[in-house]
Amino acid sequence: MPAPEAVVFDAYGTLLDVSGAMRREAERLGPHWQALSDEWRSKQLEYTWVRSLTGAAHHEDFWLCTRDALQFVFARHGIEDAPLARALMAAYRTLPAYAEAPAVLRAIRERGIAVAILSNGTPGMLADAVAAAGIESLVDEVLSVESVGVFKPDPRVYRLATRQFGCAPDELMFVSGNAWDAQAAHAFGMQVVRVNRSGAPDEYALAETGVPVLDDLGGLIGLLS
Ligand code: 2OP
Repeated sequence: MPAPEAVVFDAYGTLLDVSGAMRREAERLGPHWQALSDEWRSKQLEYTWVRSLTGAAHHEDFWLCTRDALQFVFARHGIEDAPLARALMAAYRTLPAYAEAPAVLRAIRERGIAVAILSNGTPGMLADAVAAAGIESLVDEVLSVESVGVFKPDPRVYRLATRQFGCAPDELMFVSGNAWDAQAAHAFGMQVVRVNRSGAPDEYALAETGVPVLDDLGGLIGLLS
């Protein structure tokens, strides 16, 4: 891979651990908190895709998709606990970064390569998350889909990054823990790295098409060396 102009990270599920909110409230949620967290994430993403596909008039930002998804999960499991819902939403704004993330971002910048985030999150959510994770000083640009009013995997989202850096798609390295997001960036023409922490099966034939697959963010440095 040629050295990129910038390494562009997905936020939720790549730099930030989306299980972190329910993990924080695990005692109140009970032993099935991880399954609830996975369901919350699936519904959240489903809502983003449906809102994008049904057109601009139906756009609702990521914060609202996240809230609606949580309401659905609570209703489906008969959980009636407004203070807990509020605590989970607050926790979602300050999700933990994966442990290796700060050192990896620092190492990328030490190589003179810019670091960016390109995310479905609202500018407010991303500002809070980056501050809470202590990585503010390690990120050069934070790009939110809200400036185009449509969610990933719409190509207009990935174009935000090429426009920001004034370069061609293949001059950027996009890193995502979400296979569908990696596929979209690959289709857009970016260099792509997939992070597959759970060892899930390959999707979209990404591995076959030569997309590097890492167990965590740590391996990125080797790819840039
Ligand atoms: C993000 O855009 C897809 O949730 C993911 O940050």
